[in-house]
Amino acid sequence: MEAIRCEKIVKTYGSGSTAVYAVRGVDLVVNTGELLLIVGPSGSGKTTLISLIAGILSYEEGSCHVFGNNYQEMDDAQKTDFRKKNIGFVFQSFNLIPMLNATENVAVPLILNGVEQSLAEKQARALLEELDLKDKLEVSPRELSGGQQQRLAIARGYVHEPKLIVCDEPTAYLDHKTGEMVMEILKKKVLTKDRAIVVVTHDPRIFSYADRIVHMEDGLLVEKPVESPKQL
Ligand SMILES: Nc1ncnc2c1ncn2[C@@H]1O[C@H](COP(=O)(O)OP(=O)(O)OP(=O)(O)O)[C@@H](O)[C@H]1O
Ligand SMILES: [Mg+2]
Repeated sequence: MEAIRCEKIVKTYGSGSTAVYAVRGVDLVVNTGELLLIVGPSGSGKTTLISLIAGILSYEEGSCHVFGNNYQEMDDAQKTDFRKKNIGFVFQSFNLIPMLNATENVAVPLILNGVEQSLAEKQARALLEELDLKDKLEVSPRELSGGQQQRLAIARGYVHEPKLIVCDEPTAYLDHKTGEMVMEILKKKVLTKDRAIVVVTHDPRIFSYADRIVHMEDGLLVEKPVESPKQL
């Protein structure tokens, strides 16, 4: 089944002489059961592209369907509802909530989906333990290292079992062993035949987890062979 179908999507920031043509007509199809990596130089439009796919930004031209739904045909309430149920987004800059502790941060997507607080926190704790954060459950994100914050952000991205999980540089702050642990969890546990995962990365250590790798350059996707991804 198709998780994502983007056709000629375009996103420009600003206008006139200061316009930045961040995404310049991207075609992309991602199927369920697939873990796609997007690689490319800084400023090539990777974060912008996945923000369009996740419905965080809107595009000016083209179309993007996620599980058959087109954000541009939804009103704000429908879009919010669709996103909270179906999309998990792991931000490059984490976007954790400083007033909430680690467990509470991870529980947020469950609570937004109507799960009762104590149950939501129980599920959040289980994920944090799995991600080696057992002794940080009650700690504020401010008191965590970059790698620990990143794992919190990752847990929050899949705790509500969304059908599409989009991760922006999820291993940038992780050492090799922890990065592999996170990718193992994403690939073996989180990815099912009904779900898709899109990961933006600069990190060649995780290329082997990809079912497919696409390259972004100057606002466009270019297909280039990379050394063949290991089938896990
Ligand atoms: N909010 C914004 N307003 C104006 N320009 C922006 C904005 N966000 C991104 N850009 C520009 O759009 C282009 C693509 O940015 P984007 O963040 O998508 O790149 P990226 O591939 O994710 O880079 P990186 O690897 O450094 O995270 C860049 O030239 C950037 O300066
Ligand atoms: Mg980026």
